[in-house]
Amino acid sequence: YIGTFVHSTSLTDLDICESGAIGVNENGVIEFVDRETSSITDLKSKHSSYEDAQIVIPTNKNAFFFPGFIDTHTHAPQHPNTGLFGKTTLLSWLETYTFPMEASLSSLDKARTVYSNFVSRTLSHGTTTAAYYATVHVPATNLLADICLKRGQRALVGRVCMNTMSPEYYRDASVEDAVRDSKASIDHIRLIDPKGEIVQPIITPRFAPSCTTEALSALGALHRDTDAHIQTHISENKGEIELVKELFPHSKNYADVYDTAGLLTPKTILAHCVHLTPEERKVILARESKISHCPASNTAITSGCAPIRSLLAEGHTIGLGTDVSGGFSPSILENCRQAIWVSRHLAMSEGDNVKLSTNEALFLATRGGAEVIGLQDKVGGFEVGKEWDAQMIDLGEVPGSDAEEAFERDFSDGPCDVFGWESWQEKVEKWVYSGDDRNTVAVWVRGRLVHKHKRFSTSAMIN
Ligand code: GUN
Ligand code: FE
Repeated sequence: YIGTFVHSTSLTDLDICESGAIGVNENGVIEFVDRETSSITDLKSKHSSYEDAQIVIPTNKNAFFFPGFIDTHTHAPQHPNTGLFGKTTLLSWLETYTFPMEASLSSLDKARTVYSNFVSRTLSHGTTTAAYYATVHVPATNLLADICLKRGQRALVGRVCMNTMSPEYYRDASVEDAVRDSKASIDHIRLIDPKGEIVQPIITPRFAPSCTTEALSALGALHRDTDAHIQTHISENKGEIELVKELFPHSKNYADVYDTAGLLTPKTILAHCVHLTPEERKVILARESKISHCPASNTAITSGCAPIRSLLAEGHTIGLGTDVSGGFSPSILENCRQAIWVSRHLAMSEGDNVKLSTNEALFLATRGGAEVIGLQDKVGGFEVGKEWDAQMIDLGEVPGSDAEEAFERDFSDGPCDVFGWESWQEKVEKWVYSGDDRNTVAVWVRGRLVHKHKRFSTSAMIN
């Protein structure tokens, strides 16, 4: 891969290599990173084993390679509900939109359509890794894992557990059922991908209100038996927090409900974390559990503004989540913007220091997400030894000076907001605020091309 490479090197710093080369071997592992490249001949003589390598060069000067996005929290079965939330808040939204849609995925045919579409959709937005909630249905959950493996998208796939406070038509009949079905799904995923190179299982108690104390403890035990990841929701909405107080009167707080069940571990992903108390934040930090920030969802279903600056300052590990369909967009780029907007709304009352920068949002979208998912040694940036999970971003052609041409210009292939005078940092900023999936012209996972836009022609790949 030859061209411009951009990745985060810290929360605040983007490293931009304007004309470099990255060599990826047939296992999808980065073997070399050259920060300066004069010619292909030069490159091939320097790296003799790459004599016959396929070479990918963006045809446009305004294109760059960026690490694939990591979506640390999303619900694949809710994809058909994208954009539907009306004026609901969490508990009414679940009843009105979510449970009926999820229940309908007992149909494997419907699940196949919904899941295939959603995986295509997220890949087209540059998501190379996703932590998915499926539904209570084992066959459909397993199918989602099969689809991710086949399409080459890295994924954690979780069979949802919910044995109480859920509609009669959509719940686990007993704790035993919840554990047996979770185990069945873990076994399937470990069978189809024994080393967990692409897909891994994740234990998924929906959230405290939909699980009894016994179910939560049994899932904590299942984690100890299987060492599988865990994902759940916490402290998203004030009504939900009140409900948890009523349902678990002997617990110190919401986080304590999970902690006493053995569910707060270094492999736990906690979505939302909007209204955590200082004590809860302490215990989450002490247990090394990770946080998924879902800004679009938190605004859409009016949950609140998560205090990301202060959570970062305390040392929490944070990534971004689309939380479809609480969130209205499958795009992590959109959620970068949303994270930045939410931080600005907080800044209006708390001061400018809580604002997130573009670079910080991009860090959360890549390196932060990699840490949340436990894949920080494999993905999130471009270093030797990491795997090639990347997207090629093409910002389009610089417009000419001809007024006639401007009048005729067809923007359908991608917005062109880059004029040619910008620094690379400025081009990246413009991408974050005005880009979309039309700019994501190619996506790779472990070196495999898993998505290409019609603007990515094979002429960009030469031998
Ligand atoms: N809490 C429990 N279930 C859900 C869900 O599906 N989405 C969101 N955003 N919060 C939840
Ligand atoms: Fe969610």
